[in-house]
Formats: sequence, C-alpha cells, structure tokens
Amino acid sequence: MVKAHLTIGLLPLLRLALAQQSSSYVDPLNGIAFQGMTDSTYGITIGAVFPPVGTQSTEFIGEIVAPKSATWIGVALGGAMVKNLLLVAWPSENSVVASARYATGHVLPSVYSGPVITNLPSTSVNDTHWNWVFRCQNCTSWTGGSLNTTTSSTWAWAYSTSAVDTPSNPSSTFKIHTDFGHWTENMSAGHASADDYASYLAGGSGSGSTTTVSSTATTGTATTTTATTTSSTTSSGPTSTAAAYDYVIVGAGPGGIVTADRLSQAGKKVLLLERGGPSTGQTGGTYKAPWAANSTLTKFDIPGLFETMFTDPEEFWWCPDVTVFAGCLIGGGTSVNGALYWLPNDADFSSANGWPSSWESHQQYTNALAERLPSSDTPSTDGKRYMQETFAVVESLLEPQGYRQITINNETNSKDHVYGHSAFDFVNGKRGGPVATYLQTALQRTNFALKTSVLVSNVVRNGSQITGVQTNDTSLGPNGVVPLTPNGRVILSAGSYGTARILFQSGIGPSDQLAIVQSNAAAAANLPPSSDFINLPVGQAVSDNPSINLVFTHPSVDSYDNWANVWTSPRAADAEQYLKDQSGVFAATSPRMNFWREYTGTDGKTRTMQGTVRPGAASVNTTNSYNTSQIFTITAYLSQGITSRGRIGLTPSLNAQPIVDPWFQDPTDKVVLTQALGDIIANVSSIANLTLITPDSGMTLGEYIDAYDPATMNSNHWVGSAKIGANSSVAVVDSNAKVFNTNNLFIADASIIPALPVGNPQGMIMSTAEQAAAKILALAGGA
Ligand SMILES: Cc1cc2nc3c(=O)[nH]c(=O)nc-3n(C[C@H](O)[C@H](O)[C@H](O)COP(=O)(O)OP(=O)(O)OC[C@H]3O[C@@H](n4cnc5c(N)ncnc54)[C@H](O)[C@@H]3O)c2cc1C
Ligand SMILES: *[C@@H]1O[C@H](CO)[C@@H](O)[C@H](O)[C@H]1NC(C)=O
Ligand SMILES: *[C@@H]1O[C@H](CO)[C@@H](O)[C@H](O)[C@H]1NC(C)=O
Ligand SMILES: *[C@@H]1O[C@H](CO)[C@@H](O)[C@H](O)[C@H]1NC(C)=O
Ligand SMILES: *[C@@H]1O[C@H](CO)[C@@H](O)[C@H](O)[C@H]1NC(C)=O
Ligand SMILES: *[C@@H]1O[C@H](CO)[C@@H](O)[C@H](O)[C@H]1NC(C)=O
Ligand SMILES: *[C@@H]1O[C@H](CO)[C@@H](O)[C@H](O)[C@H]1NC(C)=O
Ligand SMILES: *[C@@H]1O[C@H](CO)[C@@H](O)[C@H](O)[C@H]1NC(C)=O
Ligand SMILES: *[C@@H]1O[C@H](CO)[C@@H](O)[C@H](O)[C@H]1NC(C)=O
Ligand SMILES: *[C@@H]1O[C@H](CO)[C@@H](O)[C@H](O)[C@H]1NC(C)=O
Ligand SMILES: *[C@@H]1O[C@H](CO)[C@@H](O)[C@H](O)[C@H]1NC(C)=O
Ligand SMILES: *[C@@H]1O[C@H](CO)[C@@H](O)[C@H](O)[C@H]1NC(C)=O
Ligand SMILES: *[C@@H]1O[C@H](CO)[C@@H](O)[C@H](O)[C@H]1NC(C)=O
Repeated sequence: MVKAHLTIGLLPLLRLALAQQSSSYVDPLNGIAFQGMTDSTYGITIGAVFPPVGTQSTEFIGEIVAPKSATWIGVALGGAMVKNLLLVAWPSENSVVASARYATGHVLPSVYSGPVITNLPSTSVNDTHWNWVFRCQNCTSWTGGSLNTTTSSTWAWAYSTSAVDTPSNPSSTFKIHTDFGHWTENMSAGHASADDYASYLAGGSGSGSTTTVSSTATTGTATTTTATTTSSTTSSGPTSTAAAYDYVIVGAGPGGIVTADRLSQAGKKVLLLERGGPSTGQTGGTYKAPWAANSTLTKFDIPGLFETMFTDPEEFWWCPDVTVFAGCLIGGGTSVNGALYWLPNDADFSSANGWPSSWESHQQYTNALAERLPSSDTPSTDGKRYMQETFAVVESLLEPQGYRQITINNETNSKDHVYGHSAFDFVNGKRGGPVATYLQTALQRTNFALKTSVLVSNVVRNGSQITGVQTNDTSLGPNGVVPLTPNGRVILSAGSYGTARILFQSGIGPSDQLAIVQSNAAAAANLPPSSDFINLPVGQAVSDNPSINLVFTHPSVDSYDNWANVWTSPRAADAEQYLKDQSGVFAATSPRMNFWREYTGTDGKTRTMQGTVRPGAASVNTTNSYNTSQIFTITAYLSQGITSRGRIGLTPSLNAQPIVDPWFQDPTDKVVLTQALGDIIANVSSIANLTLITPDSGMTLGEYIDAYDPATMNSNHWVGSAKIGANSSVAVVDSNAKVFNTNNLFIADASIIPALPVGNPQGMIMSTAEQAAAKILALAGGA
C-alpha cells in the first residue's frame, strides 16, 4: 500500500555488510587525533573524539572535512534518519553553518534544540575544501536514543551537491541528499586523555593518540572499563569445505520463498540466501512491542502494528542501501507490508501487458497459490470485522456512481466499478504470507537450506556460465563463493532493487551502471573482464503506481489516533483482546476497503484505478480546523494499463535508487488519475458531514496534484527492473525467466514483471514465482 512518507534516503542501517570500520587518524590541520572514516568516493572525512571514559561526559569533538562540491553534509549519530540526532553542516562565506536536526519520519528534519554546538578555531574554508571542527555538548542522548561511547555503533553520512536554500541560516531547508552511506564508528577506540581533550577545546593539538576502552568482566553485575593501547588486528580467511547446490536462490522475499519451496519439493538441492535476519516469531524474531513482550508475537506478527514500520527508530527491517522502502529480513516486503493480497486477474498476465504468450495461462499457478496461501477479508480469528465506519462512508460515496460490492478475490476479473472488504494474506490473525506457509514446508526438507545474514554481491561467472555466488560468508565456500553442482543454476529473487544491483555488480546491465561499479574499487574487484560484460536493459522500464491521497473527516469515523499509540500505549481492551486470541482491531493492518474502476484515456488505452480506504492519514494540509479523531484517507493508485516508465540505478556509493521517477512520465497517466480523483470526490457534498480536508476548499484538485511531491507518489510496488520479454534489446529475461546471454542465471521476483498488475502486487508476484519455478524445472539442461 502507499506510504505518503517522503523517503529522504538516510534510511536504516544495522548489521550492514561490508560497512566501513572507523580508524584513528590525526588531522594535520589541527593536530586532533580522531576516530573516523574517509569515504573514498566523495573524499569526505568524518571523525569524532570523546573525553575520557568515566567522566560521565555527554559531549564530543567532531569534524567534517569535505570538498567544496559537497554543498551540505549530514551525520546521523544513531545511524538512521528517524528519531536520531542528526548534525547537518554546510559552508557559508568563510565559515561553516551547522545545526542539530531531528525527524520523526522520512521527511525534512527540523531543527532540534538541546545539543550545544560550538565551532572550534580550526573550522575553515579554503579554495577546495571546508573543514568543520566542532564541540557538540549534550550530544550523546536525544529523544528516543543515545550513544554508548564505550562501544561501536553504526553512524551514517549524507552528501549533497544541491545547495541549501539559505546558506547563512542554520535553520535552512534543503533538498534530499545526493548519496549516503554508513560506517561503524568505534567510539570505544576514540577517547582522548583529559589533557588532550582540554587542549583540543582550546584550539591546540594533543599527544596524537587515542585510547581504547575494553570491558573486563568482574564479579557480580558490575563491569569496569580500562584503557589499553590500541592494537590492530588482521582477520584470517577461514574456509570450510563448501557444499555445492543445484539451485542457489538469492533473497527470501515472496519471489524467492515460493521458488525455493517448489524447487526443493521437486527434489533439487536448494540453498536460499537472505541478507536480513528473523522477522516473525516463527522465524526466531524477538522484536516486540512492550505490551506484547511476554508473548511470542513480534512487530512483524501483529498486523495492527503495520503503521509503526515508518515511525520506529530501530528500522532494521529496511534495506539500508536502497533509497525507497524495501524489506531486508526473512519474508522481504511481505514481512513489513500492508499485506493487501489480491489474486491476479487474467489481464495481469496478458500479452497486452507485456507477457510472453506462454505465461497467459496463469490460472493453474494462481490456483496453486490460493491453495497454499488463501486470502481472507475477515482476518480476525472471531470472524468479525472491526472499525467498519470508513467502509460505510465510502460505500455511500461510491454507490451513486454505479459501484457494486463483491468479495474481491472471488471475482478476480471484476475490476470495474467494484468495491469490497480489504483482503489479506494473514494466517490465524497473524502476518502469515509465504513465510508461514511455503517457507515452512521447504524447511522440513533435508535438501533445502536457508542461510540468513548472508549478503550476495554478485554472481561469479565465466562468460555466460555462472559458476557460483559471491557472498560475504566464508563458511559457505572459499572466499565466500557458494559453488554449484554440475548443471547448477542461480535464481535471483532479491527484489526490484536488489536483483538489479546484483546484476550490475555481475557485469550485466547498461554501460553507465557498469561504469559506476567499475569505479568502486571493492565492487570492481568482483567484476568479470569487461569483454564479458553483458549489455541488457537492467533497471530500465520500471513502473510503480502513482498514488495520491485524499484526506477526509466524518463524525462516524474513528481515526484510531492515527495509529500513533499502538506501539507504546495501545487501547488496552484491543491489545488484551488480540493477545488473548488474535482477534480484534490488531488482527488487520490499517486498510478497510478497496475499490476499482476502469478508465479509457485519450490515447484509447484502458487504465484501472485502485482505491484503498483507511482510518488515519500520513499528512494533512489544510488551514481550516478539523477534528483529528475523525480523519481517514482514500489513496487512489493508477495500476494496470499505466504507460509511464522510470529507471533504477546506482549511486557512486552503490546505493540502489530510482534515477528516473516512474510516475506521470506520460501525461496521459496524470490526466486519467486526475479524472479518477475527481470522480471519488464528486459526491462528497451529498454525504452529510463528510468533509474533504486535503486538498481543502482553498485549492483545486488540479492544483493539489500539480503540487504533489513526487516522492510521496511512491507506492512501493516496483516492477520491471529485469523484465521478461522477447529479446535482449527490450528485456532482461526470456520466456523461461533466464537472463539473456547466460546459460544458467534466472530471475524470479517482482523484477521480471513487465507491467503493473491491477492490484497491490504481492499475489501477482507469488503467482509469477509459481510459474517461473515450473518453467525453470521444465527447462532442459539443469541439475
Ligand atoms: C511499505 C510497503 C508496503 C507494501 N504494501 C503492500 C501491500 O499491502 N500489498 C502488496 O501486495 N504489496 C505491498 N508491497 C509490495 C510488496 O511487498 C513487494 O512488491 C514484494 O515484497 C516484492 O517481492 P520480491 O520477492 O520481488 O522482493 P522483496 O520482497 O523485496 O524480497 C527481496 C528479498 O531479498 C533480500 N535481498 C536483497 N538483496 C539481497 C542480497 N544482495 N543478498 C541477499 N539477500 C538479498 C531482501 O532482504 C529481501 O528479503 C509493499 C511494499 C512496501 C515496501
Ligand atoms: C554479511 O552481510 C549481512 C547483511 O548485511 C550481515 O548481517 C552479516 O553480518 C555479514 N557477514 C559478515 C561475515 O560480515
Ligand atoms: C539536552 O538535550 C535534550 C534534548 O535531547 C534536552 O531535552 C535537554 O534539556 C538538554 N539538556 C540540557 C542540560 O540542556
Ligand atoms: C584546504 O583544506 C583541506 C582540508 O582541510 C586541506 O587538505 C588542503 O590542504 C587545504 N588546501 C590548502 C591549499 O591549504
Ligand atoms: C555500554 O556498553 C558497555 C560495553 O558493552 C556495557 O557494559 C554498558 O553496560 C553499556 N552502558 C549502557 C549505559 O548501556
Ligand atoms: C574497536 O577498536 C578496538 C581497538 O582497536 C578493537 O579492539 C575493537 O575490536 C574495535 N571494535 C570493533 C567493533 O571494531
Ligand atoms: C511480563 O512478565 C513479567 C514477569 O512476569 C511482568 O513483570 C511484566 O509486567 C509482564 N509484562 C507485560 C507487558 O505483561
Ligand atoms: C468466496 O470464495 C471462497 C473460496 O472459494 C468461499 O469459501 C466463499 O464462500 C466465497 N464467498 C462468497 C461471498 O462468495
Ligand atoms: C571458461 O570457459 C571456457 C570455455 O567456455 C574454458 O575454456 C575456460 O577454461 C573457462 N575458464 C575458467 C577459469 O574456468
Ligand atoms: C499546502 O497547501 C497550500 C495551499 O493550500 C500549498 O500552497 C502548499 O504547497 C501545501 N503544502 C504541501 C506540503 O503540500
Ligand atoms: C472529535 O471527535 C471525537 C470522536 O468523534 C469526539 O469525541 C470529540 O468530541 C470531537 N472533538 C471536537 C472538538 O469536536
Ligand atoms: C454524484 O456526482 C455526479 C457528478 O458530479 C452527479 O452527476 C451525481 O448527480 C451525483 N450523485 C449524487 C447522488 O449526488
Ligand atoms: C451531522 O452533524 C450534525 C451536527 O453537526 C448532526 O446533528 C447530524 O446528526 C450529523 N449527521 C450525520 C449523518 O452524521
């Protein structure tokens, strides 16, 4: 479902593979011994030095050294953007202007008061660089987080080449960064002596050394820390006998899990690699809301906690190196998504929608999916529906326009003027999806293995023959390369962004993206010789639904406090009811109703609009007063038939991001969605006490749409980055889901889907994986 949160990229971190480690260095400019890192791509150095351990200090001295091309730099002390202390700085005239910032969501961070920032004398700007050297007092804790300076933790940086709006003003607004990255700041190795620290504050240099804190266990519960001299360690490269697999599948999202289950069911020796860790309790997950602490129910189990995915500073479930929301944990997107679940319709797999004709007979695969993972529009275990007020209000809005109510997944081909109760892939009142079903059957087989916390960077190949998969886990094979059995195959299921990046890092894709990989020393080392590069349109022709929110109030509606309290202080009766038998409000995510209508554009093409109705709202923009307890949202998406396409690529730091936004590239898409939104609100005035508050009466619908921030049009439904098709100039995989010009590399996830389905895509993706698994098994030449 849509999330109207502005993704400003400084997304998560935690357990980031290959994250750079900080080291100690002395800045020749000021003689201060810092613990920090230099990013080789942009030539930015960021360091920090702390007062001696045991002084109960809440400050540190930091520096940012950056070339003038960096118009601003941000540092996230907790490593993530949300609910962490952010320090943002830029050059202005001959000095550096900075401020502490804070964000409660993925939006422009606002100025944060509490920290006291003082520029130290060596702060300077010369012809080529700016150098911000500062004291940051009251900077080791903030609302909702803190630093433990006797440990290491992940910090993040953001880099921009776009100037802030008012450089002289520390409170200036600025646009989303150009790139970002993470490193492990070894704060324990970054403490100065009291004398050195005092000297640094006074503008002097020190002895040039830092001390390392090491924890020594003592009797009882107390822990003492002692200072020791710094020593460097080198890691040995352990190797063990490597097991070879018939099929190595990369990514345990819906695509990878369904494929892995079907291939292991067929007796193949299958390894499923997942970069993330546990999600639901069944997978070993333990991250729980305080009120569910004594249950086995994690954040990922309890559907009603869905809205907290976007406001929780932990954020370990988001891929740290993708600039849009992507789930990096067991289940992929299905462990963190809205769980709206639609069985695909015939048009979703039609040749008109870009599928090879051999894929059109999808019904047996869709049936297989529905059998393994049934949908439910009554997810509460007591069979009752909760919080139906928005359903009733929107029903009264649609009925005069000829809509009829259906059980949506019982009539998959009816997608015009229909509405119904939202359907989900929950199982027994909990998030279920492929993790609770397909993955469980696979795990029972001895010819199947799942390895988590394993990051795949690329496939290893000799020309068109894939010989293994490069991971960061040396227990899986020499240098981390997992070998294949003779005739073994690799299947990428790392999602629209993850799969595209693995292809680029394997020397497969357009030359501009391969050039970015070539200029990254670590990744370049794993590329095949350039004579073996395979030029395919990877990342091109991606689509995602453009979606626009309308926010209303109605006195009958309960906004559920906009889901703001469900983590820490839920309504007690609802929490109790859910813990008791997984029934009630918490047994569903926020959506309550969905509807569809077809439109024919001026280009003669049919496009379908999907509406999703939910209590609460991501943002309200009105100057009129309104009752926040009565707000609800209708999100209108343009889905099947959409003609706009965008592009996915890499930043120089190898973050995956949209490089051409896919929304409204074709103006006809905008015209049609505008018309659809107009129809939704056409009868508002005929419903007693229903008020449209965003856009409000001060703005026309057209003005509202024109001003809509493109980033908030993102629906997180990306498809098409490795699309299926007739030949290697228009597509990445052939009708067997095999990557063109390779012998044994396949893709089974959202990437191969050539055009958006009519509804939210997870059902379509799993049906696609069912069919891909069957075609791969049927294709001769495999293990
Ligand atoms: C916030 C949000 C809400 C959504 N709501 C809905 C909804 O309500 N209904 C719906 O149908 N769809 C929804 N979606 C979309 C849906 O979840 C995705 O389309 C779907 O999960 C994509 O499936 P996939 O298998 O292609 O990839 P993913 O689900 O992204 O899975 C890819 C997996 O690969 C792993 N991986 C990636 N790179 C690597 C690597 N290099 N090495 C090892 N492992 C790797 C990832 O950790 C992940 O587990 C939502 C998505 C988001 C983000
Ligand atoms: C490999 O990467 C994953 C995902 O980032 C990480 O959790 C894991 O610790 C890494 N493994 C090693 C050995 O570095
Ligand atoms: C320190 O900062 C916090 C905000 O993080 C603020 O609430 C607190 O008042 C500050 N303390 C002092 C002594 O200024
Ligand atoms: C400009 O500042 C940078 C960063 O401190 C430094 O490396 C460089 O030597 C300086 N250049 C000159 C000409 O002083
Ligand atoms: C900080 O980390 C050390 C070492 O892991 C630990 O012993 C100590 O309890 C931590 N302090 C706090 C306040 O969490
Ligand atoms: C931090 O640095 C110290 C000293 O170099 C080292 O012993 C320790 O292992 C480092 N911690 C991490 C997490 O790298
Ligand atoms: C969990 O159990 C502990 C120990 O019985 C108890 O103290 C605590 O209050 C319980 N927490 C919740 C949220 O029920
Ligand atoms: C919808 O289909 C399911 C499964 O076939 C069936 O159990 C249910 O009764 C149907 N519901 C309606 C309202 O037709
Ligand atoms: C690569 O494949 C070619 C033939 O396709 C073979 O001659 C060569 O030995 C292979 N190279 C390696 C390193 O396996
Ligand atoms: C809010 O609405 C006003 C007009 O009513 C408009 O000028 C402004 O751009 C809107 N702000 C956002 C963030 O959409
Ligand atoms: C706002 O709505 C709530 C719930 O409908 C109601 O209880 C409350 O009285 C309303 N507040 C105002 C100021 O109208
Ligand atoms: C609903 O809106 C349409 C378009 O404005 C109008 O023709 C129709 O009369 C309205 N119906 C009702 C019941 O208000
Ligand atoms: C609309 O609101 C008025 C008071 O503001 C109330 O008397 C009336 O019952 C409401 N109508 C509906 C249908 O909620």
